[in-house]
Amino acid sequence: MRERLKLIKPSATLRISALAKELAKQGKPVINMSAGEPDFKTPDHIVESAIKALKEGKHFYTPTKGIPELLEAIAEKVNRENGIPAKPENVIVTAGAKYGIFLAMQALLDEGDEVILLDPAWVSYEANVLMANARPVWVRHDESFEDAPIEDYITPKTKMIVVNTPNNPTGVVYPKSFLKKVADLAIDHDLYVLSDEIYEKIIYEGKHYSIASFDGMFERTITINGFSKAYSMTGWRLGYAIASEEIIRDMNKIQSHSISHPTSFVQYAGLTALKGDQSCVDRMVEAFRRRRDLIINGLDDLGVEYVKPKGAFYVFMKVGNGTEFAERFLREEFVAVTPGEAFGSYKDYVRVSYATSERDVKEFLSRLKKYFS
Ligand SMILES: Cc1ncc(COP(=O)(O)O)c(C=O)c1O
Repeated sequence: MRERLKLIKPSATLRISALAKELAKQGKPVINMSAGEPDFKTPDHIVESAIKALKEGKHFYTPTKGIPELLEAIAEKVNRENGIPAKPENVIVTAGAKYGIFLAMQALLDEGDEVILLDPAWVSYEANVLMANARPVWVRHDESFEDAPIEDYITPKTKMIVVNTPNNPTGVVYPKSFLKKVADLAIDHDLYVLSDEIYEKIIYEGKHYSIASFDGMFERTITINGFSKAYSMTGWRLGYAIASEEIIRDMNKIQSHSISHPTSFVQYAGLTALKGDQSCVDRMVEAFRRRRDLIINGLDDLGVEYVKPKGAFYVFMKVGNGTEFAERFLREEFVAVTPGEAFGSYKDYVRVSYATSERDVKEFLSRLKKYFS
C-alpha cells in the first residue's frame, strides 16, 4: 500500500483551502464556495430519532451490513423510486457513500485492472482505484459534457466504468441515451458499472435514471448512494450500496473486518430520513434551485461561460487558467473556489459550489464582477 499511496497526489484544493483559512485568520471576509456540503442543518425529526435511539439503548454492535429495518427500507426505496429490483440481501449500509465506493473497488478490482473514469470527475474515484492497485483510464467528455467516447478506451483489461449522475463537478444529469450506451458497453464487454447517485434528489432539469434498472444491468452494477446530500447529513457518515448478493457479501467481508458497521444510532436516523416526511428534501432543493438561478443569471450577465447545471449544487465555470484564477480570486476578492485540475484535465475551469447561503451567492457574483472589471 505504501508504494500505491505515492501515486495519490495531494489534492489541488489543499492549497486553496489552506490559503482561505490563512486569509480568514487575518480577518478577511472570506466566502467559501469550494465545499461540497449543504449548509442546512439536518432536519429536526432525523436528529430527534438518533437521540431517541441512543436513549433507548440502541448503542450496541449491529449486523455488519446494517440493521435489518434499514436494509429493508433501502431495498423498498430503490424498487419504488429507482426501479432497481433489490432485496434486502442486495444492500449494504456503509459509512458514507465514499466508504461504499472504497468497499466496491476493493472487492472487485485486481492488480492491473483498468477502470474508466469520465473526465472531469470527483477526485476520490481515482484515489480509490489506485488504492485497489488498479489503473484509472480517463476519458474526456465531449463539449456537451453529457457524452464521452468510452468505447475507444475499452481494452481486455477494462473491468469497470464509473458513472456519476447528477454529476460532480459539472452538474450534468446524464440523458438516458448516454446511460444506455454505458449499459450496452458493459454488457458487451462484461464490465461492472459503479453508479454514484448521491445527488439524485438534487435535480432542477431532466430526469434521473439508475443504470441498475436497465435490462441486464442489475447483476453488474454497484449503485452507490447516501444521506449526506439529500438530507444534509454529511457528518453523520451514512451511505449505502446496492449490488448482487455475491458482491455485497464480498464488500461486507471488508466492512466487517475494518469498521464493523456504520454507527448504530446513525442507522436509526437514516431509517427516519427514508421513512419520514420528505418535504425537508423539497425545501432544500428549492433553495438550491434559487441559488442556481441566481448564479447562472449572474454569469450570463457577466458573459462567463459555464456548463449549465441541471443537478447537484455546482457550476463548472470556464475562466482561462483555473488554477491561477482560483488563487487570484481568493487573494483579491477572498472567494474560495476549486480549480478544475482537481477533477482531471479541465484546467481552464473552476468549480463553484452554491451549497452556501443565498447571501454568499449574491456576494460571490458582485465580487466576480469586480474581479473581471
Ligand atoms: C460524487 C460524490 N460521491 C460521493 C460523495 C461522498 O458522499 P458521502 O458523504 O456520503 O461519503 C461526494 C461528496 O462530495 C460526491 O461529490
